[in-house]
Amino acid sequence: MDAKTRSRNYFNLHHASRWAREGYWSFDYKRSIQALELLRPANLIDIGCGPGGFLARVQKALPHLRLSAMDLSEGMVQEVRERFGGTVEAVVGDAEHMPLESDAFDAVSVNMSIHHWPHPQEGINEVFRILTPGGHLLLEDMDCIPPIRAAANVVFPLLPGGDVKMYSQKEIRTLLTAAGFDILSYHKITPWTFLCVAEKPGR
Ligand SMILES: C[S@@+](CC[C@H](N)C(=O)[O-])C[C@H]1O[C@@H](n2cnc3c(N)ncnc32)[C@H](O)[C@@H]1O
Repeated sequence: MDAKTRSRNYFNLHHASRWAREGYWSFDYKRSIQALELLRPANLIDIGCGPGGFLARVQKALPHLRLSAMDLSEGMVQEVRERFGGTVEAVVGDAEHMPLESDAFDAVSVNMSIHHWPHPQEGINEVFRILTPGGHLLLEDMDCIPPIRAAANVVFPLLPGGDVKMYSQKEIRTLLTAAGFDILSYHKITPWTFLCVAEKPGR
């Protein structure tokens, strides 16, 4: 079974779990919200949104921000629709082929999802496409010291959730630059995670 099918099946089973609803790594959300407070977008879409843990925090902190969500898992999208009662527009879609218009969003967040994408360059190119010129990507995922990352990358394909790869900072920078992004910052938030903020040039 390919990684995407494994991801979809796994997350369709786990959308209602407490861990998923809270956010798989919610410790990092504060930093993303601080970045959004500075960037002041009018709208945001969370790609690979899960059941909406990040969006719940964003909605509380920035109530005027228009929110959308997309996930590969139908179960996750249904959970978002029920949880937010129409205040978040949620669609089922694959990050590598988004069913979304170009130049449509001021901000895109991707939390703990890129390590599930088999073709991350296609996904990052899609993020670039849907952002307005001058819009921002907030990319949060795992990164840790090289030996642990190497071990994780041996184990990932064996896991049931369709995990594909943990990327180094250099690989993340290469993906973003190849898509056309200017990288504004890359910060480790915990020993296991990072937040990278990048801008689509052109405003
Ligand atoms: C570890 S969960 C993270 C959920 C949420 N963003 C969070 O931080 O708690 C990964 C999410 O990415 C979604 N996902 C995996 N592959 C995807 C893809 N190709 N396109 C869109 N979403 C995907 C999964 O369905 C799942 O909801």
